[in-house]
Amino acid sequence: NRYYDLHITNATNWPGPDGVRKHAMLINNQFPGPTIEAEWGDYIVVNVYNDLQDNGTSIHWHGIRQFGESNQDGTNGVTECPIPPGHMKTYSFHVTQYGTSWYHSHFSNQYGNGVLGALIVKGPASANYDIDLGPYIISDYYHETADRLHLQAELARNGPPPDSDNILFRGKNINPDGSGRGSYDRLTLTPGKKHLLRLINASVDNSFTVSLVGHNFTVIATDMVPVQPTIRKSLFMAVGQRYDVIVTADQPVDNYWLNVTLEANNNCGRSRNPYPAGIIHYEGASPTALPTNRGTPIVATCTGETGFTPVVPRNIPPNFFRPSDIASNTLPIGLNIVNHTTKGQIFSWHVKDTPISVEWGHPVLEYILEGNYSFPAAINLIQLNQKDTWTLFLVHSSLSLPHPIHLHGHDFLVLGLGTGTFDPQKHLPLLNYSNPVRRDVEQLPGPGWAAIAFKTDNPGVWLMHCHIGWHVAMGLGVQFLERASEMRVLMKLDQVVPNCNAWREYERVGN
Ligand code: C2O
Repeated sequence: NRYYDLHITNATNWPGPDGVRKHAMLINNQFPGPTIEAEWGDYIVVNVYNDLQDNGTSIHWHGIRQFGESNQDGTNGVTECPIPPGHMKTYSFHVTQYGTSWYHSHFSNQYGNGVLGALIVKGPASANYDIDLGPYIISDYYHETADRLHLQAELARNGPPPDSDNILFRGKNINPDGSGRGSYDRLTLTPGKKHLLRLINASVDNSFTVSLVGHNFTVIATDMVPVQPTIRKSLFMAVGQRYDVIVTADQPVDNYWLNVTLEANNNCGRSRNPYPAGIIHYEGASPTALPTNRGTPIVATCTGETGFTPVVPRNIPPNFFRPSDIASNTLPIGLNIVNHTTKGQIFSWHVKDTPISVEWGHPVLEYILEGNYSFPAAINLIQLNQKDTWTLFLVHSSLSLPHPIHLHGHDFLVLGLGTGTFDPQKHLPLLNYSNPVRRDVEQLPGPGWAAIAFKTDNPGVWLMHCHIGWHVAMGLGVQFLERASEMRVLMKLDQVVPNCNAWREYERVGN
């Protein structure tokens, strides 16, 4: 067993990494929080102390499947009520996967205040390496508090969300204002060796493309799914996604920029830092000099990576889409944006007669999931009662911004995705059933569609949501109640929801 204590505290006037004091929330006074490390098969036990003055909290173990342990998922409002200030909750869970992930507060947009850290499970790798460099968290950074940003994002309605003030590499970067405050992160490689780098995009809003000047990445895992080693010059990382990559130090001894590039039209977020970068330093090179070569400019998109082959195949039969199956086994989910005049922009998911279901004669389900806290207890639940493979067609027609969609308790197969309108005639034959990319976050293009499939092999309550911080907070999500009668720990939702209502006011408490 691995034991950890996490103390979450307010840090007023925290001298942030780039020299701008801000109101933050820190774990054990660190940013990022301490790395949680375990071996494949371990039990992880974490005491989370809410030492905040006036906010609830909860910690979600992103990407951990929590088999039979849905109540350890740390998703307040879904699997638990927030931990009140002055209280402690012990989470204990089994790690059945290995690879790279992270943990973060799932309370409103709170992880944007700093409540996050890396979570690493050691296990076999699909290619050899010499040195494990550990987690490499890249995260956008804001000088405003998460609550204020949330408010700004709501007020912006369909306008652009707030720009990030910086993008940090392992919690560091210089301030892009030219003042020289802050410092670059410098990570050391040993010449000639192969290094495992565990890339994590722990941002609130910025999805981006990562590249290392003069080097390739050999990808060996997508999120926590081991894949056949695949060489890439650059990698797009949506919010929440991870890549385990091997970097071979086979270039001249020097310093190299590890660049983050945002898509030019700002559809994947904007940052005030025009050249976010960290330094990859070869042992023996100047410990202070900056790299000289910016590298060939990368044309960054907002599009999820495809083409990785999971080492353990989990394909689904193509004849899955016999017309008789369609009606019972597929679930079209349309994403709609509802503007509430009193509350700003509130997102909602509708399971409704999207063009797909009309095409297939799917019964019209009207789950209207509004994040305004006024819905009756059961209305934002979709019940999946059979043990089966479900295909979700996520259709996003209303905004040009993509959404990084994350599913709790599962990894899913990305059968296909594309921009524009989903056309069953055209797109269904293009879906990939033979060992498609598997992961726990995928970028839903906007406007566009994504077809993802998962097995209901994990009875519990699971949230699926957009991982953009303020979108989570605004309710852009849907809950699956999976094989409720087989849940090992039965959560009494009708009791949980009224209890959580008592916490509603805390959601809006700013610093
Ligand atoms: Cu990274 Cu719902 O979480």
